[in-house]
Amino acid sequence: MDKFIIKGGSTLRGEVNISSAKNAVLPIIAATILCGDKCVIKNCPMLLDVYVIIDALKSLGAKIDINKISGEIVIDTSEVSDSHISSDLVRKMRGSFLIMGPMISRFGQFKISFPGGCNIGTRPIDLHLKGFKALGADVKLDHGYVEVSTRKLVGARIYLDFPSVGATENIMMAAVLAEGETIIENAAEEPEIGDLASFLNEMGAKITGIGTDTLRIIGVKTLNGISYKPIYDRIEAGTFMIAAAITKSKIKINGIYKDHIKPVVAKLREMGIGFQFRGQELIVDGRNDLKPIDIKTMPYPGFPTDMQSQMMSLLGCVYGTSVITETIFENRFMHVLELKRMGANIKIDGRSAVIEGISKFNGAEVKATDLRAGAALILAGLEADGETEISDIYHIDRGYVEIENKLYNIGAKIQRVKY
Ligand code: EPZ
Repeated sequence: MDKFIIKGGSTLRGEVNISSAKNAVLPIIAATILCGDKCVIKNCPMLLDVYVIIDALKSLGAKIDINKISGEIVIDTSEVSDSHISSDLVRKMRGSFLIMGPMISRFGQFKISFPGGCNIGTRPIDLHLKGFKALGADVKLDHGYVEVSTRKLVGARIYLDFPSVGATENIMMAAVLAEGETIIENAAEEPEIGDLASFLNEMGAKITGIGTDTLRIIGVKTLNGISYKPIYDRIEAGTFMIAAAITKSKIKINGIYKDHIKPVVAKLREMGIGFQFRGQELIVDGRNDLKPIDIKTMPYPGFPTDMQSQMMSLLGCVYGTSVITETIFENRFMHVLELKRMGANIKIDGRSAVIEGISKFNGAEVKATDLRAGAALILAGLEADGETEISDIYHIDRGYVEIENKLYNIGAKIQRVKY
């Protein structure tokens, strides 16, 4: 087991390179099933979740070569068959449920264990299944398994009750080879959806409406293997912006799309943080005194739920009262208890947390409870007085490539130790 030990109080300086987006790479890897050909994914982040979905594809017969240095992975799905993914792989990472859409698209059927919930919520799949049924598939839930089968998929108009990221991606991948036109209304608009759609279009799909809440997909006969570089990770970039702000530092971040990070920059600017964009590079200046603000997480282009816990760490040490309301997941405040161990003054009231900023966190022994909660504890540790020990950091390794090295290289006193 590993843990992070952080000695707080360092000022950060220099520049950090952002990796490709985990939440774009996962559906893109799943989508390679659709072409039965060879695809090259460039600059792939070597994360635990990426290895899980790679193992899932390998268990279906895909041949996958990984170059850990260049981050290039070559995926040949020509010999993928409609076999079986072990349920522990699905339990390990619910993102592997994104394999369902491509598999029923290519083989007309697939069976996979019901993806578990996780710490942040029940994570239902009803909207995914609603889409598959609308496209003509039969859906069976049996002994903890989801079985979807169809003679053929036929385009349909589908309205998503909630703009679910995963459901939008799964239905899009099921529709690209369907007969006729599919319209997905109230679709999620996160940039990772657009990146998946761009990947599919480069393979030969016909998807329009990218970046809007209405996606139109005209089914095609075949898709071809391509080489592709996914977008940068806007959540990793946002996490480093807050690292600069919480340590009152000025740093340069390389690998940013201004539009993708607009909701986060808008709120940080309101607090008094300075931003200077130069193409895909950004100078973040967190040296001013900051003001408290209120945050409400919303589907894109609202403030992202994946930045909520990191924001709570920052607001936890900004003088004044701030309120964070989490509208996406029903249990995404587990970092509050850990931050309170570090001295934070936070009261939870239903879906809202009322934060009274303190002057300084105290270093303490804390536990990562989920991916972004873990990131929030790192940020609080950077600011804290004394030493912070974070255990269960496998949660953090799911979504951040060597975060300790990236922070160490810009001046943070952080190390990974085995225990
Ligand atoms: C994706 O999860 C991301 N994961 C999450 O990132 C992110 O927090 C989330 O989108 C929201 O932006 C990946 O892309 C791999 P949803 P997903 O379906 O697709 C409800 C991280 O930290 N819902 O948009 O599972 C659901 O209960 C992770 O990187 C249904 O009701 O999110 C939730 O309240 C955490 N029925 C809301 O939608 C469904 O069928 C958002 O879920 C599906 C979802």
